Amino acid sequence: DWTLDLFMEQISERVREQVGNEKVLLLISGGVDSTVAGGLLLKILDPNQVYLMYIDTGMMRKGESEEVAINLKKLGATHLHLIDARDRFLEPLKGVDDPEKKRKIIGDRFIHVQEEEIEKHISGEYFLAQGTLYTDLIESGKGVGNKANVIKSHHNVGSPLVEAKRQAGRIVEPLDMLYKDEVRKLGVKLGISKDIVFRHPFPGPGLGIRIIGDVSEEKCRILRDADYIYISELKKRDLYDKIWQAFSVLLPVRSVGVTGDAREYGFVLALRAVVSHDGMTADVYDFPTKDLLEISSKITNEVPEIGRVVYDISSKPPATIEWE
Ligand code: XMP
Repeated sequence: DWTLDLFMEQISERVREQVGNEKVLLLISGGVDSTVAGGLLLKILDPNQVYLMYIDTGMMRKGESEEVAINLKKLGATHLHLIDARDRFLEPLKGVDDPEKKRKIIGDRFIHVQEEEIEKHISGEYFLAQGTLYTDLIESGKGVGNKANVIKSHHNVGSPLVEAKRQAGRIVEPLDMLYKDEVRKLGVKLGISKDIVFRHPFPGPGLGIRIIGDVSEEKCRILRDADYIYISELKKRDLYDKIWQAFSVLLPVRSVGVTGDAREYGFVLALRAVVSHDGMTADVYDFPTKDLLEISSKITNEVPEIGRVVYDISSKPPATIEWE
């Protein structure tokens, strides 16, 4: 694809000119954008000047942290810092059930943990790279065009570190001229696995906002196991790529069920699947009933804590894509 080649050349020139042989730090979230940004930096710079940091919040999807690490190592990462921050996130979330409070705590923790870990792992001056896309700049109000999506607070753009680096002119945004589909093409070209490149969007606060009510390690585990089955089944059934975003939500409701002679109270899991162009509006995916029923029984069979599965049939608007 010649446009991608041309883009790589241009961006490579721009980034090299900007950073010289100084250090560049990129915080990897595990999503498409930051992973592709990481792959690109490793390709166009000396891998030795590229510092990659990934923070495991305890609210990631199953296998996500490992998968990201494998991919980045394969692309030549030498300074790859995988930070186990599970306790640092889950402790302060104990007993908190208000969604915006949870988002705030998670956002603040990100800032804190980042500062703590950067201090430990990188000395002296450095540039901060970000996987910002053209559309992110527009949505956060920094570009022209659409009004920002301000219904929910975003922690991705605008932390003190980012602001300080921006003021100092030390932000590198290699993807800021690209749209999502172009980033995906670039990811494939760089050799990043298709599981990451074509992955559905995942919110920064992770499973923290897909566990309605208070978050615990146990609930994260249950949701992670259930969601893994859901997503794996979608892939097996060739449905994953027809859906814009699919995920599971763990509800704070216990419902009664029977196992043998006993009555048991299990968790209720909601499955969501929507089609959309940009997440601003979304339609419910017209899920083939047979697949839905089979996936539901697989989940209740394999995750004993879940006693009931429901399918969310609300579009956006009036609902939002996420439940919190
Ligand atoms: P909603 O729920 O507002 O979601 O319809 C639209 C898109 O944004 C994602 N989303 C978030 N992403 N931090 C993020 O980085 C957040 O707090 C957040 N809330 C929602 C959501 O997954 C969907 O793709």
